[in-house]
Amino acid sequence: MSNKLWGGRFSESTDQFVQTFTASVTFDQRMAQQDIECSRAHAKMLASVGVLSDEDVDQILQGLSEISAEIESGAFEWSVELEDVHMNIEARLTDKIGDAGKRLHTGRSRNDQVATDIRLYVKEAIDAIIAQAKRLQLGMLELAERNADVIMPGFTHLQSAQPVTFGHHVMAWFEMISRDIDRLADCRRRLNVSPLGAAALAGTSYPIDREMTCQLLGFDRVAQNSLDAVSDRDFAIEFCADAAIAMTHLSRMSEELVLWSSSQFDFIDLPDRFCTGSSIMPQKKNPDVPELVRGKTGRVNGHLISLLTLMKSQPLAYNKDNQEDKEPLFDAVDTLHDCLRAFADMVPAIGVKKEIMYAAARQGFSTATDLADYLVRRGLAFRDSHEVVGNAVRFAVEQGRDLSELTLQELQSFSSAIEQDVFEVLTLEGSVRSRNHIGGTAPEQVRSAIEVARSQLG
Ligand code: ARG
Repeated sequence: MSNKLWGGRFSESTDQFVQTFTASVTFDQRMAQQDIECSRAHAKMLASVGVLSDEDVDQILQGLSEISAEIESGAFEWSVELEDVHMNIEARLTDKIGDAGKRLHTGRSRNDQVATDIRLYVKEAIDAIIAQAKRLQLGMLELAERNADVIMPGFTHLQSAQPVTFGHHVMAWFEMISRDIDRLADCRRRLNVSPLGAAALAGTSYPIDREMTCQLLGFDRVAQNSLDAVSDRDFAIEFCADAAIAMTHLSRMSEELVLWSSSQFDFIDLPDRFCTGSSIMPQKKNPDVPELVRGKTGRVNGHLISLLTLMKSQPLAYNKDNQEDKEPLFDAVDTLHDCLRAFADMVPAIGVKKEIMYAAARQGFSTATDLADYLVRRGLAFRDSHEVVGNAVRFAVEQGRDLSELTLQELQSFSSAIEQDVFEVLTLEGSVRSRNHIGGTAPEQVRSAIEVARSQLG
C-alpha cells in the first residue's frame, strides 16, 4: 500500500527503510498544537470565503479539538508511515469525520503549513525563554542588592586589577542578559509574519483571505512573497544565533562560578542542591550546574552552524533539506530555556564569602591606580606617577607587603608628593567609593543601577 495522502502517482510503496529515513514525525510532533491552530485558522478562512461549507468546517473544528485532546492525553497514535505531524493529524481527522477531513487541505500545502507551524512554535518558545531570563535577572538583582558594598578584586587578564564591588560584578551579568532578551524580542518581531497562503510555492487559485488567517494566528503581517514565505528559515538561524550569544554569556558566568567556588579562590559557596559529589573522592563538591551550562554552550553554537550550513546553497523554494531545521532548533530552544531556568534558581542562592573576597582584594596591589591618581592630583603627570607607583610596587613585591602596608617614609622615598592622607586612597573602601559616576563600581552607583533595573523589569 502506498501512502494514502500522496500515493496516487506511485506504482510501488516506499522502501521500508526510506520511510523511516524520510519521516519527521518522531521530532516534529512537538509542533502538533501549532499545527492544529494553523488548521483551525485555515478552515475558518475557507468557510468565510465560501470554499468550504459551514457544516464541513464545524466538523473539522470538532474533530481537531478531539485530536488536540488525544495528543494532550498521550492517547494519540503517531505513525511513521504517515511521515510527519501534518499528515498524522490530517489522516486522523479523516478517520474521524470522513470527507470533510479530506477537504481541509484545500488551498494549502505542507510547505506553507510547516513554515507557519514553526513560526508559531518559535514565538511561544521565545516568550517562555524571555520569562526565564527575566526570572534570572530578578535573582541577579537580589544578589547584587545584598552585596552592593561587598569588595572583591576586579580582574583583567584574570590578574588582580582594581577593587570592585560584588554587586557591580553581578550587575554586569544583568546587562548581558538584558541584551539577550532584547535580541530575542527583536527576532520575535521579525519572525511574526504569516506564510500561510503561500501554499506549495506560488500561492493558490482559491480566493483565500490571507489577512484573516494572519489575524487568527496572531501574526503581525502577511509574508509578501510566496516563494520566500515557504523557504525562509532566517528566523531559525537568527534564533540560534541569539541563543548562542545568550549561552556564551551563561558560559562566561559559569566559568566565574566554577573558579570562584574552587578552594583556590573560595569566593562563593554554591548551595549543595546545585552540586554533586565524586564517587571516589569523598571531599569533592563539584559545581556541576555551571559546568554543564558551560558545556551545553557548545551544542547551541553547533546548532547555529548546522542551520547556516543547511540553508547555504538551497535554491528557492522549499526543499526537503528544510526538514533538518527542526532538531537543531528544538534542541537550542530546550537547552537555552533549561540553562536559564537552572541559573534563575541558582543565582539568588549563591553564598558570598565577603571576608575572603576582601582579603583577596587587598592582595595584588589593586589600589595601585588609586595611588597614581592621587599623585596626579598632587601635580604629577600621569605617566610620571605611573612610573613612581611601578617602583613602589616593585619594592613592595620584594618585601612581600601590600602598598597599604608600607610606611609613610617608605612611600615618600618614591615621591615627596606623598603625604599622610595617601592611606585613605590606598584603602579598598576609598578606592571603590571614588568611582562614583554612572556605570562606576561605587556602592552608591550599584544601588542606583539596581533601582533603574528594577523599574525597567517591571
Ligand atoms: N516534514 C516536512 C518538513 O518538516 C513538511 C513539509 C514537507 N513538504 C514536502 N513538500 N515534502 O519540512
